[in-house]
Amino acid sequence: MTKDMVVPTIRFVAGAIEIIDQTLLPSQYRIISIKTIDELGDVIFRLAIRGAPALGLAGAYGLLLAVEEKWAGEGMHFFDEGGVDLSSFPRDVTLPEVREVVSRAADSIAGTRPTAVNLVWAIERLKRVAARQWASTEALLTALYREARLIHQEDLEMCRRLGRHGAVLLKDGEAVLTHCNAGGLATSGYGTALGVIFAAVEAGKRIQVFADETRPLLQGARLTAWECLQRGIAVTVVCEGAAGYVLSKGLVSAVIVGADRIAANGDTANKIGTLNLAVIASRYGVPFYVAAPSSTIDPAIVTGERIPIEMRPGSELRQCLGIDSTPPGAGAFNPAFDVTPNELISAIITEKGVFYRPFDDLIG
Ligand code: MRU
Repeated sequence: MTKDMVVPTIRFVAGAIEIIDQTLLPSQYRIISIKTIDELGDVIFRLAIRGAPALGLAGAYGLLLAVEEKWAGEGMHFFDEGGVDLSSFPRDVTLPEVREVVSRAADSIAGTRPTAVNLVWAIERLKRVAARQWASTEALLTALYREARLIHQEDLEMCRRLGRHGAVLLKDGEAVLTHCNAGGLATSGYGTALGVIFAAVEAGKRIQVFADETRPLLQGARLTAWECLQRGIAVTVVCEGAAGYVLSKGLVSAVIVGADRIAANGDTANKIGTLNLAVIASRYGVPFYVAAPSSTIDPAIVTGERIPIEMRPGSELRQCLGIDSTPPGAGAFNPAFDVTPNELISAIITEKGVFYRPFDDLIG
């Protein structure tokens, strides 16, 4: 892969959603083709596709998938990467029937990852488009397709823009700690926190990445390290508990993370363990940056206390890489995200610019 190539995290091809199975990286690079809403729910739940903006794309394409699943015959499809072809769409299907199928799919996908607001945000965008189309089923289906493609294109552009805004904050020669994976794999293909690092590197700065391992599913060790190496960026994996040591010894001069949902006041939900990093960064005077597209800001949620936190199965903790890591009978508590209060965040970087505390101008 060349420096300029983006990771094709998700595509809608010939009536199916194609994703990289992120549970297998870095040992295997395998593309899965998803043809049903049940399969989509399954890959989202088991984190084969993950990261808030990528989940938004999965949700948007999911509504197209529901139409394919219901009405495309064997070997046929209506939607492809290149456009829409409704010549084989059954003529007797009514607008309310299409709406019903889309709305059922929306309901079934929306709850799969409750913290990542982009999922609901993208689905709502398609639902709003559907609500405006009363001319014909063709007009409705074409409008849904266009909106899904637009969300995809916009996400790529937002990541590139926020990357350029954030890159200004990083100096040549800096070492930066990041958590989980907020790169191309978590978005349309460039990234948010990693997008800032990639943009700094593209601007000619030498940046060294410290990737927090990210328990329990190792998105930092597996995915962030993989993406950095794909781009020829030096990366060092540190175990979760090493963050205090790394920050106290000045081994990094900034922390940069992504976000799953940002409240109107700047409080930020991100992968569990982010709050720990923010507290330690504050203790040692290290800047703590959040990078996210504006689609991750939820203006309806005033403070982080109201952000729903996804609870994951304890089995993710009881086993590590297929081997039991706790004795039988031990309890396991597995919140997938935590909320970092705005006072611990030095700046929030979006495609619109860099926002500083008290984040009064974050919305709008
Ligand atoms: O559970 P995950 O892997 O979906 O969690 C992902 C994160 O926490 C990311 O940091 C966040 O979604 C931002 S992705 C650009």
